[in-house]
Amino acid sequence: MPSFNILVLGGDHIGPEVVAEAVKVLQSAESHPAVAAKGIKFNLDHDLLGGQSIDVHGIPLTEAVIEKAKKSHAVLFGAVGGPKWGMTGELRPETSVLDLRRALNCWANIRPAKVPSNGVAKCSPLKESIVKGTDFIVLRENCGGVYFGDKQEFSSEKPDYASDVWGYHRWEVERIAKMAAYLSRKHGGTKGPSRITNIDKANVLAVCRLWRDAVWKIRDAEFPDIPMTNQLSDSLALVMVKNPRSLNGVVLCDNIFGDLFSDEAAAVVGSLGFSPSACLAGIPGDGTNSPGMYEPSHGSAPDLQPNCANPVATIQSAAMMLRYSCDLDFLADAIDEAISVALDDKEAGGLEVRTGDIGGSASTTEMGDAIVASLKVILDKMV
Ligand code: NAD
Ligand code: IPM
Ligand code: MN
Repeated sequence: MPSFNILVLGGDHIGPEVVAEAVKVLQSAESHPAVAAKGIKFNLDHDLLGGQSIDVHGIPLTEAVIEKAKKSHAVLFGAVGGPKWGMTGELRPETSVLDLRRALNCWANIRPAKVPSNGVAKCSPLKESIVKGTDFIVLRENCGGVYFGDKQEFSSEKPDYASDVWGYHRWEVERIAKMAAYLSRKHGGTKGPSRITNIDKANVLAVCRLWRDAVWKIRDAEFPDIPMTNQLSDSLALVMVKNPRSLNGVVLCDNIFGDLFSDEAAAVVGSLGFSPSACLAGIPGDGTNSPGMYEPSHGSAPDLQPNCANPVATIQSAAMMLRYSCDLDFLADAIDEAISVALDDKEAGGLEVRTGDIGGSASTTEMGDAIVASLKVILDKMV
């Protein structure tokens, strides 16, 4: 009986709202005869993270949550943070995200940039002709770099200087380069491996010279058939808006560059509400059994009114969870297809349901309902 234990951490502000829609989609799938017949069960356990956890437990991430996460098949997470808790004090909701990624050793963060439905290519702030056909993955190193280097905070003794060390070990770069190769083959499918674009600032930073050296040595030794080019980080910022299709394939970034460029990529494809992510502790199929962490790339959007956030990125993240942590590709494909239909133009057979971030007026729950309805039609055909 394929049964999966999933720890659900909504977080703050829009976090619980968007996660509730993903849960709704998972539960509607589970109760559909096409899925129930296979005995698939999702055992969901909900807990607190970030500001909500600070309010109840006094800290943003408890040991109990870490232990539960480690025992789960996967963690489905929304977003944390907000003005109530601030972001510069000692107790910051945001540390919970980094600490959980580290606790689960989720060193690879996969953030696809693809318009989820033909009908919404026109919702991008860029011209539709530029955006159409964009299909790349920002692969972000997730457990190292400047995020996790030694920090020197400013203090009353040293009020005018602070620093963060940006370092990488060769092994950390090698393993993410191997993940890039895995994704390049997956992405290219029968057409052969897609191009990897290696991002760094090796013309200035020592850490990036090691990064570039390690990435190329691994590529030449282990996957010389995969096309790879370098792109400096500043000109990547330009290329991503000028000709995003030219990046189709894998955009390999360290932690901080991946943080920045995944938000830019989200804007290119129309919204942060279209940017899902999977944080993994190993290359699929390599025998790693550690749970993955699945989360939208966006934050808690405290500027939004209740029930108006776009839940699509979180529902796409749940689909990635089914793919990578549950080996349920058929269901992940069905959910991606349901998202496409729910968003697409009516004249193309879609439901044309769109939230405010993409120029519509649908609520968070209406968007979730539309995806559930489309999913039912798709699953009905499988019975
Ligand atoms: P943000 O991603 O929350 O929001 C940026 C902009 O995008 C805002 O205008 C917001 O309204 C919009 N937006 C984001 N997600 C959306 C969605 N699903 N639907 C519609 N619009 C959406 O970034 P921010 O404003 O810089 O940060 C807000 C808080 O979130 C901060 O406390 C930050 O530290 C935190 N944050 C948390 C995570 C996380 O938990 N993984 C990620 C990023 C930021
Ligand atoms: C993200 C977020 C996080 C990050 C923050 C909240 C720690 O911006 O997931 O992109 O910087 O990784
Ligand atoms: Mn970010």
